[in-house]
Amino acid sequence: MNDDSTKIGNAQIDSAQIYSPTPAHTIFDSYRASSVAAPVASTTIDHQPLTDGFSRRLTYLRLSITDFCNFRCEYCLPNGYQGKRPDDELSVPEIATLIRGFAQVGTKKVRITGGEPSIRRDVVEIIQTIKQTPGIETVAMTSNGYKLGKHLAKWQAAGLNQLNISMDSFDADTFYKMTGFNTLPQLLTDMDTLLQTTDIKLKINSVLMAETAFENLMDAIDYVKDRPVTYRFIEFMQTSDNSDLFFAQHAHSDTIIDYLTEHGWQPHVRGSSDGPAVEYSHPDYVGRIGMIAPYAAHFCDTCNRLRVSSQGKVHLCLFDQGNYDIRQHLQTGDVQGLVETLHSFMPIKPEHHHLHESNSGIMHNLSIIGG
Ligand code: 5AD
Ligand code: SF4
Repeated sequence: MNDDSTKIGNAQIDSAQIYSPTPAHTIFDSYRASSVAAPVASTTIDHQPLTDGFSRRLTYLRLSITDFCNFRCEYCLPNGYQGKRPDDELSVPEIATLIRGFAQVGTKKVRITGGEPSIRRDVVEIIQTIKQTPGIETVAMTSNGYKLGKHLAKWQAAGLNQLNISMDSFDADTFYKMTGFNTLPQLLTDMDTLLQTTDIKLKINSVLMAETAFENLMDAIDYVKDRPVTYRFIEFMQTSDNSDLFFAQHAHSDTIIDYLTEHGWQPHVRGSSDGPAVEYSHPDYVGRIGMIAPYAAHFCDTCNRLRVSSQGKVHLCLFDQGNYDIRQHLQTGDVQGLVETLHSFMPIKPEHHHLHESNSGIMHNLSIIGG
């Protein structure tokens, strides 16, 4: 913990990482400057659902359980994970406390992310722990699918409901070039096994790159013809580590959407509890094509999520200017204190990101928080 850190509620804030250009941070500054505890009244707000300053209900937690990743995706960790994997990732008892606290304030869905979450030996125990927490309805995970076949049965038995696989190409050479791994054929086989032998809901994520967009879309349309899978394109987001590639390869979501609508694909209206993807379906296709467009207008209006890193830091927005350390609550099993601290964050959750100004906050790459 940095010596410059200050407190909001009971959370440590690493103020050295923070500057405050937005109105939300102006509010935050007033807490920081006066070191006043956040306005919580524990007896009355205990079980109230988290609702931020823009009336958004936060019912979805994305929990990173490790920063480490074995892949070298060119837009994320082109040179692989740097340094030694931290040996103080959140433990299972800490995760149990975390999830109890979040469930108490209305979290219904938890997604386990990384880095690559499946490299943790206790990932099955983590899935079980989250799944067994009263109030949690859905446990999801995002993975690069490395050795998916080996893990699948155990993840299903532990109660995993949804799995998102990151797969940026259907072409083995491109996949290798993008990830540093030659595992596409095995991954495709393992995903078919998942579809045939489990009831885990499968989605595939791919980062939209100008160079491969069209070929990828054609392959994805073929893939979902007979498979109940949504293949989702995510607009390439700029971070401080990937600017060169971003300016060379960033493509607008319209590239995909225009093709889909011209070829009979229909968008589905998003429900209030849906994620940010707009999904398109077609009467001749079993699966769907989805688009996650963080650069589109109003993308953040329906934000329903908070993120926690594998070090126990809350990220109020993926591209915020700082993060908030709640680990002390987790280490001491302090569910009540955690709940109060989570409520204290509500006035300062940013309204939206600043990607349009090429400002990605403290996010050097997405491996620390899993997108
Ligand atoms: N832009 C968009 N998506 C990204 N991901 C990682 N980095 C980026 C980025 N810069 C995606 C991965 C994976 C998920 C964890 O985040 O493709 O699907
Ligand atoms: Fe690729 Fe995800 Fe690993 Fe980043 S964290 S290198 S996007 S698999």
